Amino acid sequence: SQAFSLAVIPGDGIGPEVVAEAVKVLRAATAGEAAGFELTEYKLGAEHWLATGETLPEETLAKLRTHDAILFGAVGAAPGDTRIPSGIIEREMLLKLRFSLDHYVNLRPAKLFPGVPSPLANPGEIDFVVVREGTEGPYVGNGGALRVGTPHEIATEVSVNTAHGVERVVRDAFRRAQSRRRKLTLVHKHNVLVHAGHLWRRTVEAVGREFPEVAVDYLHIDAATIFMVTDPARFDVIVTDNLFGDIITDLAAAITGGIGLAASGNINMDRTAPSMFEPVHGSAPDIAGQQKADPTAAILSVALMLDHLGLPGAAARVQEAVEKDIAGRGSAARTTSEVGDAIASLLAVG
Ligand code: NAD
Ligand code: IPM
Ligand code: MN
Repeated sequence: SQAFSLAVIPGDGIGPEVVAEAVKVLRAATAGEAAGFELTEYKLGAEHWLATGETLPEETLAKLRTHDAILFGAVGAAPGDTRIPSGIIEREMLLKLRFSLDHYVNLRPAKLFPGVPSPLANPGEIDFVVVREGTEGPYVGNGGALRVGTPHEIATEVSVNTAHGVERVVRDAFRRAQSRRRKLTLVHKHNVLVHAGHLWRRTVEAVGREFPEVAVDYLHIDAATIFMVTDPARFDVIVTDNLFGDIITDLAAAITGGIGLAASGNINMDRTAPSMFEPVHGSAPDIAGQQKADPTAAILSVALMLDHLGLPGAAARVQEAVEKDIAGRGSAARTTSEVGDAIASLLAVG
């Protein structure tokens, strides 16, 4: 029988705690499948950097490339941790992975599950996906600093947007919209960021001609944050750049029950390298090591992974078990592993 080879990067802080539960659920969900999973763990992240000075060595990257998929927890130090310069791990490990493996679709679904309290008084039916561009924008490191530390310091981070990069992510967003409620919203800021903004707008217009059934809408990023709070039900598929997508998906998580539920996939749609699945949240140093983290986001990321690997049945079972567990959640606090156990046992029964 077929075996999938899965790389597991638990990372820092709550990363290992939530990944342990995700793996538990993966095992329970695929127990009946012909296909098995072979797991290989990779130690990477801030703690690993402190111990070894390594961020992401080329040989490790080469090994990671050989897997069918990567399951990722979270990396990063506490904001006040002066032993680790902010940005080293994020840029040289996490973003290096996303860029090297060409994860151009950063897929971040936002759904308000029945029984989940939203901070919104009238949330309505929230069910949209953000297709965040994952390899370009202000994240590429195209910048620099001059006269550092002087009153005349100049710091730049230039957003890179290529016709190729924008077109492929826009086409993916249209495809997703076509198979959902057929509505696509481009979120940008073309009234100010005219060069990149107009490239995005023209691309949406051009690719949109291939999808005549998809209704196209546009919002500036600032207005988009208003509607995400006042009328989130209006969204079906949002397509946006790397930085706007980062910000808006934390907001999307907040309105759908919190960051502990928000899953993501860093997807290479051309399958030239393994895709990577991870919760939207970070290493949460404030609650790390206390079994307080909600592993649901990591578990839902496993569902996205199963879908990507061509196991939609197993993906749906994970999704359903999570929804069942969520619907029955009372106010009693559960530990990270209690939540994982509960979801895994729902899978064992069903
Ligand atoms: P964070 O997402 O780690 O935490 C923000 C808040 O959400 C904290 O109060 C935290 O306790 C809470 N939270 C996060 N996940 C939770 C969960 N599963 N259950 C319950 N509560 C949860 O963001 P931050 O504090 O801005 O960043 C901390 C570190 O993580 C930084 O080093 C940052 O660079 C890194 N980071 C990494 C990733 C990633 O690896 N993909 C993502 C975001 C941030
Ligand atoms: C996320 C994180 C990362 C991002 C950081 C840690 C590089 O915030 O996955 O949302 O900005 O993409
Ligand atoms: Mn983020």
